[in-house]
Amino acid sequence: MSAVSPSALLVTSSIQLQTEALSRTYPSGDGQITALRPFSHTFAAGMTSVVGPSGSGKSTLLNLLAGFDTPSSGAVRVGDTDIHSLSEAGRADFRLKHYGFVFQSHNLVAILSAQENVEFPLMLAGVPPRERRERARALLSQVGLEGRTHHLPSHLSGGEAQRVAIARALVGNPAVLLADEPTGNLDTRSGEIILELLTRPAREGKTVVLITHDADVAALADHHLRVRDGEVTVER
Ligand SMILES: Nc1ncnc2c1ncn2[C@@H]1O[C@H](COP(=O)(O)OP(=O)(O)OP(=O)(O)O)[C@@H](O)[C@H]1O
Ligand SMILES: [Mg+2]
Repeated sequence: MSAVSPSALLVTSSIQLQTEALSRTYPSGDGQITALRPFSHTFAAGMTSVVGPSGSGKSTLLNLLAGFDTPSSGAVRVGDTDIHSLSEAGRADFRLKHYGFVFQSHNLVAILSAQENVEFPLMLAGVPPRERRERARALLSQVGLEGRTHHLPSHLSGGEAQRVAIARALVGNPAVLLADEPTGNLDTRSGEIILELLTRPAREGKTVVLITHDADVAALADHHLRVRDGEVTVER
């Protein structure tokens, strides 16, 4: 029998992402803003687009799915885990193992090279240095950046930096990938490359949730949600 490498702990297959009457209100002056009305949904494997006007509640939904924000009511389940019932530390650990994130801004660590940025989540997960290096290199090569591994984020173009962010999001082989306007700051060609990179994990059966206000981008998804004034509806 072969030894189980620590990284085997990171390898996850498809997991079901589910919301149950998930809602969020924010205090506002004397009253409240309903940013998300009770929303129950099972995210199918593949890519789900989330569209809707500015201020409609898209990022609110994503932040609740991620466990970055706390719901006013309801639950988010990933497999058997109600993520909001975990402690802060438990949730951070859960995210590390099961989630990847891509935002409009790449959020790379400025003083770390592309390679070190991609290794970072593996370091937090306790993967040994050599394996970390190899996996980060493989991911950077998959996003077409084998020649840029030692570059700092400030020495990369916007599209390249976003590809590093995708490599970082995917290096732990997460079951859930959440992206909030990942192509928002990019030119058309760079945006297309990013979308192609996001459709790959979707094809592998991962659950990808993609917020966009670009209808052409949304059309690439397998499933479609629309948000209006905090109300999420399934589009067919
Ligand atoms: N932390 C907060 N405190 C108070 N109100 C908030 C907070 N976050 C969001 N809101 C409000 O909730 C509503 C939904 O905001 P959200 O950021 O989810 O919109 P969005 O659809 O992502 O918009 P955009 O397309 O501009 O990113 C808005 O009315 C916003 O002002
Ligand atoms: Mg938003």
